[in-house]
Amino acid sequence: MDEGFSPPLLPNEIQKGLETLRLGRKIHYFQEIDSTNAYAWRLAQEGAEEGEIVVAESQTRGRGRKGRPWFSPPYRNLYISLILRPRMPPIHAPQITLMAAVALAETVESFLSFTPEIKWPNDILVSGKKLGGILTESSCEGERILFVVLGIGVNLNLPEELMPEAIRHSATSLFMVTGKKVDRVAFARRLIQSLERCYEDLEQNGFSPGRWESYFGLRGKRVRVNMGDRYVVGKALGIDADGALLLEDEEGTVEKIISGDVLPA
Ligand code: BTN
Repeated sequence: MDEGFSPPLLPNEIQKGLETLRLGRKIHYFQEIDSTNAYAWRLAQEGAEEGEIVVAESQTRGRGRKGRPWFSPPYRNLYISLILRPRMPPIHAPQITLMAAVALAETVESFLSFTPEIKWPNDILVSGKKLGGILTESSCEGERILFVVLGIGVNLNLPEELMPEAIRHSATSLFMVTGKKVDRVAFARRLIQSLERCYEDLEQNGFSPGRWESYFGLRGKRVRVNMGDRYVVGKALGIDADGALLLEDEEGTVEKIISGDVLPA
């Protein structure tokens, strides 16, 4: 065992003292899998219940947003996918991702002595580098969401030397930031609890941007949004109830941005 080893993410270890009613009562565990999201999707199609979770020690085809790969070496990080069956119209599905970003930010914050940032729409940044990401995939039928697979990847005990050169300038891990090894089981348990609280709040009270915005590092700052075919520059005001980024231009006109990469201007 190398020094980065931390105990496996065994379901019964995570479930010990897990204070949830809906999420994580059933956990599917793999040492290696193609992608926890892909497996959770198959489970959901076969009728898995809301709250079932897939966790893996490593992924051979971990996937990120926009078809990017997600670096998933064994026993260092957390790769987790949750099956949700929210009773909300498909148009509100993006709120699940925003809710999860808050739950993840809260969990990361509880392992730090300072506040992490959310980079719109849902990356978690620490010291300006990406620590975790969220990939939400939904199956809908007409005006109904059949299920949502909420996939979260977080870099926990990854040392810099194991991080691929290509992402070293832009990615980090809790170990790299604090110099301390993280108890991955405790992290997973806290994240599941935080997700259950935030999910219940979303279901009962609807989405309110306030908590998300409290982690939004670029709020009030001049930003540049790369929208693929064009750039927009303006002041980031926050997000609306659908999770669109609100950008104010020089004339005071507010534009809603649905998708794009945001950087300080
Ligand atoms: C992103 O920021 O691009 C999203 C990354 C999401 C990665 C996680 S790891 C667990 C789950 N399984 C996957 O294949 N992807 C998500």
